[in-house]
Formats: sequence, C-alpha cells, structure tokens
Amino acid sequence: MFAVYAESFSTDDPLTGLMVGERPDPEAPDGWATIQVKAASLNHHDLWSLRGVGLRDDALPMILGCDAAGLDEDGNEVVVHAVVSDPAWSGDETLDPRRSLLSEKHQGTFADRVVVPRRNVVPKPASLSFEEASCLPTAWLTAYRMLFTRAGLKPGDSVLVQGAGGGVATALIALGRAGGLRVFATSRDESKRKRALELGAHQVLESGERLPQKVDAVMETVGRATWSHSIRSLRPGGTIVTSGATSGPQLDDAELTRIFFLQLSVVGSTMGTRDELASLVELLDVSGVRPVIDQVLPMEQARDGFAAMAGGDVFGKIVFTR
Ligand SMILES: NC(=O)c1ccc[n+]([C@@H]2O[C@H](COP(=O)([O-])OP(=O)(O)OC[C@H]3O[C@@H](n4cnc5c(N)ncnc54)[C@H](OP(=O)(O)O)[C@@H]3O)[C@@H](O)[C@H]2O)c1
Repeated sequence: MFAVYAESFSTDDPLTGLMVGERPDPEAPDGWATIQVKAASLNHHDLWSLRGVGLRDDALPMILGCDAAGLDEDGNEVVVHAVVSDPAWSGDETLDPRRSLLSEKHQGTFADRVVVPRRNVVPKPASLSFEEASCLPTAWLTAYRMLFTRAGLKPGDSVLVQGAGGGVATALIALGRAGGLRVFATSRDESKRKRALELGAHQVLESGERLPQKVDAVMETVGRATWSHSIRSLRPGGTIVTSGATSGPQLDDAELTRIFFLQLSVVGSTMGTRDELASLVELLDVSGVRPVIDQVLPMEQARDGFAAMAGGDVFGKIVFTR
C-alpha cells in the first residue's frame, strides 16, 4: 500500500530519512480494526521521529503519523485514538508505562490503511469533515487535557498560551475561548498574533512581553524560549502545564525561587484518554468550534508539509488526504 515512512534518522536534516512509497499491507491482530485513512494530520512528533527521538533504530522503516480519520470495515466514519496501551491496562491510557503512540511501536497513519485496537476507534460526527477530524487525536486532544483535566480550568479563569501559531497552541486558544476562559496568547510573529485574535484570544502579546494581569494558568509547549516568561506570568498558586519543548528542554533558569515562594504548580501533560477524545469530538460537534488548518495536501506531497513544519511558518494544522 501507499505510505509515508521514516527510513533513517538525522538530527540536523530530518527530511533526509523521509520516504514516500510502498509498504506492506498491515494485518489486524484479533481485537484490532483496519481503518481506511481518508485524512491524517502532521504533528511535531513526526519531525521528532525523523530525528530519532522516541523511535528506535530497530523499528525502522516506520510509517509516520499519529492522527487519522477514515472508515472502519463497515464503512462507519471514525476518528483514531493514537495512544495504544497494553491490553492488560485499565484506566487512564496515558499513565500506562507501556503505552506508545502510533508510529512509535505500531505503524502510523500516513498510509492507505492503519490497524489499531478496536477500543481506539471513536465515532466521527457528520458535522466534522475528515480533514477536521484528523486534527483532533494529538494536538487538539493534548490541548483539551492540558486545559480542562490537568489545569482544571473553569469558565471565568484566565490562561496564557505561548507560541500562538503551533498546532497545540491554536487548539488551546480555540478551546480556551469555547470553555469560557480569558485567553492571552503570545507569538513572535505579528501576523500570527493577528490570527490568534481572530481565533478567539482576548489579547495577544509579543513573546516575552509583560501581561496586563497575572493568570491562573499557562499552557507551555515552547520550552526554553518562553519558560521564564511563563512562570513570571502566573498568579500566586497558579499552574503551569507543560506538554512540549519545541525550542529545547534545557532551561537557562527554571525559576525555582518563584515556583516555591509563589506556591506554583508545575504539571506535565501527555496526549489524552480515549474518553477525553470522545468528549472533545462531542464538544466540537455541539459548539461549532473547528480546528485551524494551515494547509491540506494530497499525501503524495507529504514532504512539502514536513518542510513547512520544519521551517516553522505554519498557523494551525497541516493535513494530508488520501
Ligand atoms: N506531550 C504531548 O502529548 C504532545 C502532543 C502534541 C505536541 N507536543 C509537543 O508540543 C510542541 C508543539 O507541538 P505542535 O505540533 O503544536 O508544534 P508546532 O505546530 O510546530 O508549534 C510550535 C510553536 O512553538 C513556537 N516556537 C517555536 N520556537 C520558538 C522560539 N524559539 N521562541 C518562541 N516560540 C517558539 C512557535 O510559535 P510562534 O511562531 O507563534 O511564536 C510555533 O508555532 C512540540 O514540541 C511537540 O512535540 C506534545
């Protein structure tokens, strides 16, 4: 079948190991479903994989892609939950130490077909297109869990979203607004700040600029470049939720003094559960909120999408269609 896969790793030039071609058809073990992929969205995770982060040498070649929407064997429209937990695990799948994301241990979604445990299949409402639904399982699910589960934010609370242009960040802004939060967002880029306002941010600022008020929570996916500003933007007792480190995980200053003196909470967050994905799908169905899509490309042109993400000039999600 047609597939987009990693053949080798390169830290400096990740696209050298990216292949667009043929891979063997997947076989579904007992209890797994075969999904015909109609749309799949790109995540920073796919670039990390090509750099050899989170993917082992002996797993190559590996079909990339965590997110997909498509058709199950009966023709039902579905969304795929990307977190595969151990069959013996019960409860929150993201806490299973043996969990993996599609494209880490099991073949990913940038292909004609993907096989997943049957419990990872979530119904797709007709109101969402395949392209929109394919944006949800990683970036949007991560944002949903960060805001509502890990930070526990409630309507009327305030939140700062760093790096407004990112796939997770655009989801945080739109979901934060839909959830009744006062949303501040930063971006290095003026046009992205303007688009963040259109998306629902109440106020946008340059990266590092002082906020007009301290916030209840900060959503961090940028890491080193914004960490200090994030900590300094929190009210006493506030919460920083971190789910990524695009600019690097090594901090110049962890701001420990502020963290203990102001009694801040530093909370990690990764992906989300199957039930949270089902709730997110429902939220979009009833609210009319839709993922921001930067561009839609036929899967054959996946390399162009990877290059755009590596270049950083993206607002929202990049989607591949079959
Ligand atoms: N833990 C999880 O479950 C999970 C799930 C999804 C993603 N992630 C991680 O979250 C991060 C974001 O993912 P994504 O898919 O949203 O990536 P993305 O679309 O590439 O977004 C990255 C954003 O970070 C900002 N940024 C990058 N370098 C910066 C710098 N030096 N200074 C300030 N801002 C900078 C940019 O915002 P501006 O250009 O607007 O400034 C950019 O739009 C990645 O590291 C990814 O691995 C984790």
